[in-house]
Amino acid sequence: MSTKDNNNASEPKKKPWVKPSITPLRSGFLNKSGAARHMIWRDNIDGVPVSKLLEDFKSPLFVVSEHTLRQNSKRLRKAFSTRYPDIMFGWSYKTNYLSAVCNVLHQEGDLAEVVSQFEYEKARGLGVPGNCILFNGPNKTRAILERAVNEGAHIHIDHLDELYLLEDVAKNLGKVVDVAIRLNFDTGYTEQWSRFGFNVESGHAIDAAWRIAASDNLNLVGLHAHIGTFIMEPLAYKAQVKIMNNFMNEVETKTGCVIKYIDIGGGFASMNSLQGIYLPPEQVVPSIEQYAEAICDTLLELTHERETRECRRPTLILETGRAVVDDAEVLITSVVANKHLPDGRRAVVLDAGVNHLFTAFWYNHDVVPTRHLSGRPEETVLYGPLCMNIDVMRNSVMLPPVNVGDTLIFSPVGAYNNTQWLQFIEYRPNVVMVQENGKVSLIREAENLEIVTQQERLPEHLKNPYPKGTPRNFLTTPK
Ligand SMILES: Cc1ncc(COP(=O)(O)O)c(C=O)c1O
Repeated sequence: MSTKDNNNASEPKKKPWVKPSITPLRSGFLNKSGAARHMIWRDNIDGVPVSKLLEDFKSPLFVVSEHTLRQNSKRLRKAFSTRYPDIMFGWSYKTNYLSAVCNVLHQEGDLAEVVSQFEYEKARGLGVPGNCILFNGPNKTRAILERAVNEGAHIHIDHLDELYLLEDVAKNLGKVVDVAIRLNFDTGYTEQWSRFGFNVESGHAIDAAWRIAASDNLNLVGLHAHIGTFIMEPLAYKAQVKIMNNFMNEVETKTGCVIKYIDIGGGFASMNSLQGIYLPPEQVVPSIEQYAEAICDTLLELTHERETRECRRPTLILETGRAVVDDAEVLITSVVANKHLPDGRRAVVLDAGVNHLFTAFWYNHDVVPTRHLSGRPEETVLYGPLCMNIDVMRNSVMLPPVNVGDTLIFSPVGAYNNTQWLQFIEYRPNVVMVQENGKVSLIREAENLEIVTQQERLPEHLKNPYPKGTPRNFLTTPK
């Protein structure tokens, strides 16, 4: 022992040396890296037992949570309206146009954002007035433009041919129509969606603004841009807002038009795992508040001088889709079979496939059992029921053994599945909504043979499959 040690009694004592050791983390038990995936299970949706849902509505089954949907919408609204004085939201129909979903969001105050005649008609059919519709999309026919003009919808022009057509429609109807133009530009953060709208950098957009300013029947009042989807960088929106604000100032100075609104589209990421991104969504997906801060702070600062000129700040419109609806819906599916692949991997066949869960092509959805599973977790491939090699619901997930009839929950699945799903090989299943009061309502009925074939027509001469008699039984030896 050194003299120093002897003399300095207040110095902290050294910890005794301990032989280094490696402690294996026993999978299946709670350890310092968290609970193993298969230890997590979920047996209810908003308090309604999964077993009861399946008893009443069969497997597979999509389940929408009205509570989560409303909460997501309220959170979005709060994040933006507390940061910018004039905000509107448009529900992006293509993300999920189940009527019950749309009407929850309309009840929360959303306009309808539609991109086709079908979506326009769907919004009107739900009772949305024309002046509560934002009409985007590159394929608007004369007939639907006439209707939209007559009903006062907010038309966002995508290209010059639409501009000419709309001008002609307005002229024939003897109207002056307030319109917006869709813009595309390079934010420096995302791939440029340059096929939509007028390009800013090349001067096409200002040319379009000039053209509208020169029209007797069109009046430019808005700017729209949707820069992409699942954008994980809030700075992309900061750049977007700057570009749109600069363009607004240029249009107003050069053409004399007064821009009343800036619509920045959608694109916020949801709490889902994009394939190829290895960190969990909780670590890489910005919060709604982070997006709101990047957007609103920038717009507030840039439009401050408008107030000093007594020219009002533009209304900010958002068309957020997936970030509102994705985690408000799950898919419950049942195990049909267990297999082993020749390479030794375990495979499970489920009763729901990529025809139902279209986003399985892009996401590694979270998969949890609906009961505690015991046994050693193994790498497992989850296949759907389609007789197609591409029908892979999860390429690799750690799961203990499951039995035929066991159920798994895929989430989040609320965005782009109930619109992009296919009737392919199998019928599409029921969709239910768990209401805020705990009641469960069927919001889309499962298909059956009658529903699937009701649009088909058989020409008279094809009505009998075997007019010359049925083929011989090929199991009997021919004479
Ligand atoms: C014009 C427009 N607005 C809004 C959205 C919704 O986007 P997201 O679901 O990424 O928020 C889309 C989706 O492609 C769109 O094209």
